Formats: sequence, C-alpha cells, structure tokens
Amino acid sequence: MEYSISSSLDKIPKSGIRRLFDLAQNMEGVISLGIGEPDFNTPQNIVDAAIKALKENKTYYAPNSGLLELRKAVSEKMKLDNKIDVSENEILITVGGGEALSLAIQSTIKTGDEIIVPSPSFVAYSPTILLSGGKPIEVECKEEENFILNPDSLEESITENTNLLIINTPSNPTGAVMEKKDLEKIADIVQEYNLKVISDEVYEKLIYDGKIHTSMASLNGMENNVITINSFSKTYSMTGWRVGYLSSKDETLFERMLKLHMYGPVCNNTFAQFGALEALKGPQDSVYQMRDEFEKRRDLLLKRIKEMNGVNAIKPEGAFYLFMNISETGMKSDEFSERLLNEEKVVTVPGSAFGPYSNNFVRLAYPLKAEKINEACDRINKFLSKN
Ligand SMILES: Cc1ncc(COP(=O)(O)O)c(C=O)c1O
Repeated sequence: MEYSISSSLDKIPKSGIRRLFDLAQNMEGVISLGIGEPDFNTPQNIVDAAIKALKENKTYYAPNSGLLELRKAVSEKMKLDNKIDVSENEILITVGGGEALSLAIQSTIKTGDEIIVPSPSFVAYSPTILLSGGKPIEVECKEEENFILNPDSLEESITENTNLLIINTPSNPTGAVMEKKDLEKIADIVQEYNLKVISDEVYEKLIYDGKIHTSMASLNGMENNVITINSFSKTYSMTGWRVGYLSSKDETLFERMLKLHMYGPVCNNTFAQFGALEALKGPQDSVYQMRDEFEKRRDLLLKRIKEMNGVNAIKPEGAFYLFMNISETGMKSDEFSERLLNEEKVVTVPGSAFGPYSNNFVRLAYPLKAEKINEACDRINKFLSKN
C-alpha cells in the first residue's frame, strides 16, 4: 500500500472546532463555551522561574530528551502521584501533550494497523492515526454507561490488526473519569491481546467529587504496555508554554520516539522547562484552588442545564467539559451549534467534531467566570424556548 503523510492529509477533515471559531471571530458580544483552556494566569512563581532562567542566559539548546533536573522531577512526581516507577531516562519532555501524543502514535503504528479509539474522543486522535498510516477504530462509549469504555465492546472490536488502544481519563470531551475498577477490566483485555496503550492523562488534576485519578501504567503487569502522556498545560494553566511529557519503559519504543522528537522540535524551549521545573517543585496550592473553582462552575452549569427544557446532561466528573444531550430538540449538533451562535452568540463545539457517535451532543467548556456561565445559560434557554 502506498503511503505518505502528504497524501494522508487529504483524508483528514478540517477541524470542526475551527470553523465555528472562525464564524465567531467576526461577531461582537460572543460568549465562548468553546475553548479548552483554563482562564487563570500561570502562577507567578512559575513565570518568575522562567524569567530568571532567561536572565541567566538559559537560552541554549537543552538536551534532546529534556533538562535532566526536570526529568528527575517528573520521575519523582510520577512515582508519587501516579504510582508509576519510571526513571529520568524513561521520560521525554515534549512540546505539550500534543507532541507527546503524535510521537507515541507515529512511533507505534505500522501501515494498516488498527487503533482503538473510545468515542467520543479528543479531536486529535483519529487524524493523527490516519496521518501515521493507521486505521482508527472508534468504539462507542454510551451516555447511559457514563461514557466509559465498555470492556465487551472493546473486545469485540479487536482484530488481528489491532495493536494500540488510546485511553483518556478524565476525558475530553465528556468529562468522564475511569475508576480503577474500569481500568482493570480494560487492562485484562489489553494483556490478553498484548496491545500497547497510550494513556492520555493531561486532565489528571481536574477531577471532582473527591474522586482519585488512576494511571493505567500503575496497574499490575501494565507498566511495559503503556505510554503515559501528560502536560503542564491544564494543571498549571500553561497552555501557551507548550511543555508536556511522555514516559515509557519500553526501551526500543522510547528510542524511536526520541529519534522522531530529535528530527522535529529537537528539544523543548530551555527557559520554559525551568518554568515547568518550578511548577513541579514549587507550592501546589494554585492547582487545588483552580480545581475547586472549576468544580463550583461545573455544579453551576449542570444545575442550569437541568433546569432547561429540551436538553440534558450527566454529571461530568473531571476536566472542564460537559457533554450536553440535545436529542430532544430534534436538531443535530452542527445545526444546534451554528444556530446557537448565529441567534444568541454562544459558542459551543458540535459533537460531530468528536467522532461518529456524538451527533446528539454539543460540548460546553466551562473554564469561565460564573457570571459568564449564567449569561451563556440565559442565552441557551432563550434559544431553546424559541425552537
Ligand atoms: C485530551 C487531550 N489530550 C492532549 C491535549 C494536548 O494539550 P497540550 O498540547 O496543550 O498539552 C489536549 C488539549 O486540549 C487534550 O484535551
């Protein structure tokens, strides 16, 4: 089979998110429930650490895999927080979680491999798989099962070509959190069929109702199967810094990912890595304050939606997204989002952006102040009562 990135690019649709944002750009008075980034500034101690690094001329290339101090700090953090025993040599500092994901997908897939993607899924997974010559197999995670991957559905979708599964908990776009028991059932299947797993944990700290994040690689017998992806973007409100990381105990695979990284960005920004080091080493209060604030906003948004006629939602337990069911309105997600924007100037992301099973949903991102959430809900209510 002939394959090239350039020919695969033609198979990938333009992001469904971007089209709506382009439309919104030319409008006044828009409230956006579209953007997936915290509305808090990066904590000052982190900013200061990067400024200090710049002033001290830490402006040269960093080692390809990342600053040793930072990799050591990530290793300690992963042992403590994630119960994953990885050394600094099994960690690669990347350009955000986004690059980590691409490296993991591109280094694992051979042409024609099937990759299982629980759906609804983060917008980048399937396009990156297609670009890498693989075939995404989207497995539906049903609302009535709290959008959690069903082990039987997983097993049914495995063929002799399957080699990789992507897990994302807490989830973008549904906010679903997989508990240890959910992950254990999946891990059994992964081991039975000897699959690799990419575990995308970029929302690990945004988890509510006292729930605890479990890492796939921490489960018995899984440590060699899993590439763990993480990022400073959401936890420390550092989306524009572009610092993330991956870890893998599979030496050959790690070397392949490092090679790809070396021929791409070469290394992550040196001074940004000093900021990231401070993020891990410094006080963590801001992480928990931000989490608590998001939990309140989640509660507010959910309460307001439950009071509306024609839409509904289950309680998201993590990240900062709510996946609103719009089936009673009779509209599909693209029409709903587009009309809501045109008529009431509220940006949402149509479910269609997250795969084939989400056309009765729209994603609402709630990292914005309570007044704005209330105003957006007033407008959605008005929109619903007209339709
Ligand atoms: C599920 C998921 N994974 C990975 C990323 C990548 O984030 P970043 O590249 O900023 O670390 C995002 C960003 O929105 C995300 O939602």
